[in-house]
Amino acid sequence: MECKLVYAPLEQVEADAVAVVLFEDGEGIPAAKAWLDELKSSGEFTGKPGEMTVLHLPQGLKAKRLVVVGGGKKDKFDAAALRKTVGALVRALKQKGVKRLAFMLGGGSAEAAVEGAVEGAILGNYEPDMNKPSTDAKPLEAFDVVAAAKTPQLEPALRRGVILAEAQNFTRDLGNEPANRMTPLALASKAREMAAAYGLDIEVLERDRMRQLGMGSLLGVAQGSDEPPVFIVLRYQPAGGAKSKDHLALIGKGVTFDSGGISIKPADGMEKMKYDMCGAAAVLGAMRAIAQLKPSVTVTGFVPSVENMLSGRAQRPGDIVKSLSGKTIEVLNTDAEGRLILNDAITYAKQLGCTHLVDAATLTGAIVVALGSVNTGVFTNNDALLGRVMAAAKDEGEKMWHMPLDEDYKDLLKSAFADLANIGGRWGGAISAAWFLKEFAEDTPWVHLDIAGTAWLDDAKPFLAKGPTGVCVRTFAKLAQSWQ
Ligand code: BES
Ligand code: ZN
Ligand code: ZN
Repeated sequence: MECKLVYAPLEQVEADAVAVVLFEDGEGIPAAKAWLDELKSSGEFTGKPGEMTVLHLPQGLKAKRLVVVGGGKKDKFDAAALRKTVGALVRALKQKGVKRLAFMLGGGSAEAAVEGAVEGAILGNYEPDMNKPSTDAKPLEAFDVVAAAKTPQLEPALRRGVILAEAQNFTRDLGNEPANRMTPLALASKAREMAAAYGLDIEVLERDRMRQLGMGSLLGVAQGSDEPPVFIVLRYQPAGGAKSKDHLALIGKGVTFDSGGISIKPADGMEKMKYDMCGAAAVLGAMRAIAQLKPSVTVTGFVPSVENMLSGRAQRPGDIVKSLSGKTIEVLNTDAEGRLILNDAITYAKQLGCTHLVDAATLTGAIVVALGSVNTGVFTNNDALLGRVMAAAKDEGEKMWHMPLDEDYKDLLKSAFADLANIGGRWGGAISAAWFLKEFAEDTPWVHLDIAGTAWLDDAKPFLAKGPTGVCVRTFAKLAQSWQ
């Protein structure tokens, strides 16, 4: 979809449809007053979020349709609300055969509005089956953001929005692929392609190299599968040298299929475990955006990727493995495999000199019970880094909820035979999983994002298709961009 900025009065906008927002208090953008007054006084349109009215062949307009969309309360209409509103508009109008949509900006911070609008449009235009030969998806071909006055900040804002949303859709494509096509090796080749296209440095460690390094915990998970594991390292270095000594690590869980291993999962719903690599996909998407946005901080992406399977060679409950950190782990449940690959990635990131660690992982069913598909669960050992991540997430409208991680949870992971057990008790499962990772982050500032609930939508939202959401891509990219 082609996205661009247009500077024109409403009357002159050429499109299949031009959309304007009308708020609950009756206020709309002044340029559309003549058309909105009648609609307002009819009482037919209340301005609530989600409301939409289409006026055909509006008098005095060049556009074929004027679409009025509810914005809710004006003072609550921020960039996040705008993103959702435009997403929902696009999803509704593409079904009606609209190919070229123009969106008229109101007041407010035009920069954030341009970015939010274009993100909403690109994300809303995406369908998981868009690339299928038999698809009946009818995507928009063009999206114009219409601004009243030209300011120099608007073009870069548009470009930022395009980069972020396209990176997020790239992540959604990866998450959507079934596990027979998205093996660890396939993920590595997607990463190579992406790195070559956007000028990132890439290294893919294979099993032998991981063995030499001592990644016994990761390799224990991989040993049950015929698909070889990979460990992808993507490097971004600011041109002309970084301004600070900080080195940000983005780490993503890349389990391309999670059968549970010998502690096998129930058959019902197991097919969904192809999305157990959405943390990895988010890191690849974020690195793609970072390569284009060129922040001033050094960022390295770490993607440990394995398939968690059962076989005569699979790891058993009770096995003890030695991690890269030197700590030994008793594998009480082979289905708690995410933490077994992530701990080696965390240690490796520290060994390579990363000063700040952020990981994203579809780590626990427990976080889905706690937060549903609305908020990502956030855990940390460092309030300053937490603040940065939460600010980036807020900017990008990705909801995150800070979960506790106090010392009182420590005893959950005691093992009689090793330094740590890989599972805690029945309760607080998302916390014991996070605590496990914290044992490897140690004193290095670290934030863990449990995206098991937010990486996949079982049901479409008005502004987003069902399936992989690409959560964390925009937050990660924003985090790097806002690094001081
Ligand atoms: N990949 C799953 C977590 C998951 C569950 C992701 C539901 C998405 C939706 C993870 O590897 C897992 O199996 N975790 C176990 C841990 C348990 C054995 C301690 C879980 O949450 O049940
Ligand atoms: Zn599992
Ligand atoms: Zn898993």
